[in-house]
Amino acid sequence: MERTIAVIGAGPVGRALAGGLHRVGHEVIVGVRNPGDPKHDGLRPTVHVVGIGDATAEARLVVLAVPADALASIVSGLRLEAGTTVIDATNAAFSPVPAGFETLGHFVASMLEPDIGFVKAFNTVGAEHLGHGEIDGQRLFLPIAGDDIGRAIVADVADSLGFAVVEVGGREAISLVENHARLWIHLAIHRGWGRAFGFTTVGDHG
Ligand SMILES: NC(=O)c1ccc[n+]([C@@H]2O[C@H](COP(=O)([O-])OP(=O)(O)OC[C@H]3O[C@@H](n4cnc5c(N)ncnc54)[C@H](OP(=O)(O)O)[C@@H]3O)[C@@H](O)[C@H]2O)c1
Repeated sequence: MERTIAVIGAGPVGRALAGGLHRVGHEVIVGVRNPGDPKHDGLRPTVHVVGIGDATAEARLVVLAVPADALASIVSGLRLEAGTTVIDATNAAFSPVPAGFETLGHFVASMLEPDIGFVKAFNTVGAEHLGHGEIDGQRLFLPIAGDDIGRAIVADVADSLGFAVVEVGGREAISLVENHARLWIHLAIHRGWGRAFGFTTVGDHG
């Protein structure tokens, strides 16, 4: 099903997701600080590039693709319609989880009104794989966690990108998804695997 999806941030993650989501038929609106900056020209005309404050008006799915330390100011400034689901693709990769929160995802969710859904997704694999969820014809394992209704929609969207989506659970499972990202980052950077890999599952499950 075609959806209107806002992607906040146009770094490697935002660009990859915007391109992939457009490729599979979704309408994509990218929200950035300075939409007139020529560095965003490559995104047009396939996706709309607007200021962050204007990105969410039509979108009921909003992807966060910004640095963890920018989340507080960005999320608190978003204008979200009731029923919107926020998809958190961020990681506290090089900074601690904010004090008092179990995970970065719980920190983001704490800033949302009760009528806004929260799903952690698209944070567990390198940006270059996010627009097309497979490597060498193998669908990449994509664990997601969060609120029931939004999670099913996000699973559908991620499936459309080619991922083998696994709904890990509700908000109690966010830490598992964030830890999975830590594993990918650890192997990629600290164990010298590089970035050209992902995970998959074998055997019977679900
Ligand atoms: N890179 C990966 O492989 C990867 C994979 C999975 C998840 N993640 C996570 O995804 C998030 C995005 O990562 P990224 O690699 O795409 O790039 P990034 O460098 O973390 O973020 C780039 C985007 O964030 C915007 N931004 C930065 N500070 C901002 C602020 N204070 N207010 C508004 N916008 C701001 C930048 O805007 P300007 O262009 O205007 O500066 C740019 O559009 C991070 O949390 C990262 O941990 C990264």
